[in-house]
Amino acid sequence: MSSSLQTAFLGSYYQNPFMNASGVHCLTVKELNELSASRAGAFITKSCTTKEREGNPKPRYYSVPLGSINSMGLPNKGFDYYLNYVLDFQSKSSDSLPFLSVAGMSIDENLHMLRIVQDSAFNGVVELNLSCPNVPGKPQVAYDFEVTEEILTKVFDFYKKPLGVKLPPFFDFAHFDAMAQILNKFPLAYINCINSVGNGLYIDIESEGVVIKPKNGFGGIGGEYVKPTALANVRAFYLRLKPEIKIIGTGGICTGRDAFEHLLCGASMLQVGTQLYEEGVSVFDRLQQELREIMNKKGYKSIDEFRGKLKSL
Ligand code: SIN
Repeated sequence: MSSSLQTAFLGSYYQNPFMNASGVHCLTVKELNELSASRAGAFITKSCTTKEREGNPKPRYYSVPLGSINSMGLPNKGFDYYLNYVLDFQSKSSDSLPFLSVAGMSIDENLHMLRIVQDSAFNGVVELNLSCPNVPGKPQVAYDFEVTEEILTKVFDFYKKPLGVKLPPFFDFAHFDAMAQILNKFPLAYINCINSVGNGLYIDIESEGVVIKPKNGFGGIGGEYVKPTALANVRAFYLRLKPEIKIIGTGGICTGRDAFEHLLCGASMLQVGTQLYEEGVSVFDRLQQELREIMNKKGYKSIDEFRGKLKSL
């Protein structure tokens, strides 16, 4: 019998663990429809603000041999656009729950959007993005531990639906410990590790210049470059968080092998960003085929047989 990729997540069953990373192929209704019609197990909307935003000046995304650099600056169609989309989706589909990503410019803006979601008929999952590195003058929220705790305290005062947070990468055991201690205080459904590695710089030696316009070329790095950091974050939090908090693994998933590694570290769902941008929605067919081949070869019938079971030496 062939391996099954079916994934239980927050009480729903998904055909497979793959979804887009917020920001890629999810800005417009057309892109979201393509995602929901694709072989992705689930989809998430572009991180939104209350009002539509143009984002940063172009060029703001650049593909490089080992991945990508971007400084999009949260271009989005506004909160109502995405809330209406997911409400419409859930009224037509009972198979899987949609994910709605929000990224307000202030604590109050996040609370405002979440209050509306709480009072709405939305029964999917909210991802609160605490890690956008690309808005000039706005640091990544989750690097400020006190503010992160303040936001989560205020959110869970009233928010009762499933909610996860998108985190930036951390690079030190002291930070994994401190952040996990904060996260464990809250009824979070999941965390998503990782957003892009913030504020990298890619240089074109022909022009002797940078390749994206915003922030003098500084931007978030994704793709192959970031997989080891993503795996480390998934693993570090898998070992530190209470078991009710699931993990979505994001970062450097280009092949079935990358997906297998994220699952082995403890991820429940998997988001694909840079590779989806490169390949389009057919990436989900290929990734499933490659992951299934690895599982078949190893004799695994389901993901649960190996999830989180990374061996130490
Ligand atoms: C962006 O729009 O700049 C990307 C969003 C993110 O990295 O969170």
